[in-house]
Amino acid sequence: MGPALVEGPVEVVLADGSVRRSERPVVALCLCRRSRLYPFCDTSHRRRSRPTAPRSGRGTASSRPG
Ligand code: FES
Repeated sequence: MGPALVEGPVEVVLADGSVRRSERPVVALCLCRRSRLYPFCDTSHRRRSRPTAPRSGRGTASSRPG
């Protein structure tokens, strides 16, 4: 899921009552909650998590056959 693009400038009031403001003409609001700049998108939504494929062995380098 990507951001929601809204026409700026915007003021966003967060759940704790704090206010974030952006003066940009178009503002990307984070919908994934991974952004370090939340409530604004920092493109963290592009990062993919590793697949949970089963690992061979016990997962340590020392367990590899030599
Ligand atoms: S939508 Fe882009 S970081 Fe959350």
